[in-house]
Parts: sequence; C-alpha cells; structure tokens
Amino acid sequence: MRGIFIVMEGPDGSGKTTQINLLKNYLEDRGMECILTREPGGTKIGEDLRSVILNPEYKEMSSVTEMLLYAACRAQLVHEVIGPALERGAVVISDRFVDSSIVYQGIARGLGIKTVSDINEPGIGIYKPDKVLFIDISEKEGLQRKVQQKKLDRIEQEGIEFHHMISEGYRKILLGREDVITFDGEQDIDTLHQEIIECIDHLLER
Ligand code: TYD
Repeated sequence: MRGIFIVMEGPDGSGKTTQINLLKNYLEDRGMECILTREPGGTKIGEDLRSVILNPEYKEMSSVTEMLLYAACRAQLVHEVIGPALERGAVVISDRFVDSSIVYQGIARGLGIKTVSDINEPGIGIYKPDKVLFIDISEKEGLQRKVQQKKLDRIEQEGIEFHHMISEGYRKILLGREDVITFDGEQDIDTLHQEIIECIDHLLER
C-alpha cells in the first residue's frame, strides 16, 4: 500500500519546522507511522552534503553547483527514506522538497524553472508529493525571525532582495496549483496548527 507524502514549503523563518513537529505528534497520537525528513539532509550522505551547501565560507559556490548538490541530496533521500517509507504505507512529512529548488535555484538564482525540474526528475521518479502545505509569510517577517534565532547559513545571509524573490517566487509557482494548500504564516502557532490538522484530516479521510 502506498502511504501519504506531505511536503511543507515556505520562505526562511516561516515556522515550517515547528508546524511539522506539531503535526507529527498529532498523527502519532492517532497511531500512524510518521516519518519526518528535512532538506537538504535526512540521510548520512545528505547531511554531509548539507554541511557543504550551507557553509557560509563557500562564497565561491556557483549556482549550478548549488542546484546539483540540492538535487543530489534529494535523490538520496528519496532512494533511502521517502520511497521505502511510502511503499510500506507510512505518512512522510518533508521539510521542503523540489519546490524549494524551483524557487531558490530556478527563480531567485535565475537557473530557470524547467532546468531545475528536469535535473530533479530522475531522483524523484514516481514519488511526487500528495499535498504541499505552503506557509506564506513576507520576507521581512521571515528574516526577522531567523535573525533572532541563530547564526545565519550561506543562503540566509543573502540580502533582502533575494528573500523578496523567494516570497514572490513561492506565490508565483504555488498559488492556484491543485496539490497546494496555502496558510497564513503570520498567525499564531496554535491557530496555524489547527488549520493544518483540519486539512490533513480531510486528506486522510479520502
Ligand atoms: P534550513 O536551515 O533547513 O532552513 P529552513 O529551516 O528555513 O528550511 O536551510 C535550508 C536552506 O536551503 C534554506 O535557506 C532554503 C535553502 N534551500 C534551497 O535553496 N534549495 C533547496 O532545494 C532546498 C531544499 C533548500
């Protein structure tokens, strides 16, 4: 039996990770096997690649290298974790997936939506998300939250114009798409969680 594949997307600081953890607890309380993955990372190879991709010292990294490294992490994650979990009927929740690459590398880095989709295709194969939960937030609010939290990684250190392209890019590719549900990321944590579980309950009923 194939499980359910849910992806959480949104700009830096949108609160995805908090919501994913709340959702996992909710599903596990209902007796479901729930696998959480994060991108880039989620496997041993992927975590090694993550430390290269996000290292603020690698200012010389080209956009093409960046795109290929994200795609490599994703291919390994699908191969090792996402594919097998879905095949045994688990719920998989991924913190980001290919839409992140389409927005960050395809739009903000200017490599093109088609190029990024094509590069990622062989690594993803049949394992497309059933639902993408998009947490929409302005770049200003998102960045403010990040700056308060921790040391910024290589991508987060990009300027406000880059992050503006990310917020706009997400809206451009996700709004109106049938597999996407959009949430207002500026509401409080509990309200947002309630909205998310209502949608997930609908999905699980089907
Ligand atoms: P992370 O610390 O996981 O950020 P967040 O908690 O906001 O998800 O770092 C991931 C960074 O990598 C984030 O800035 C978005 C970026 N990214 C891409 O540029 N392309 C991608 O394909 C993915 C998955 C992430």
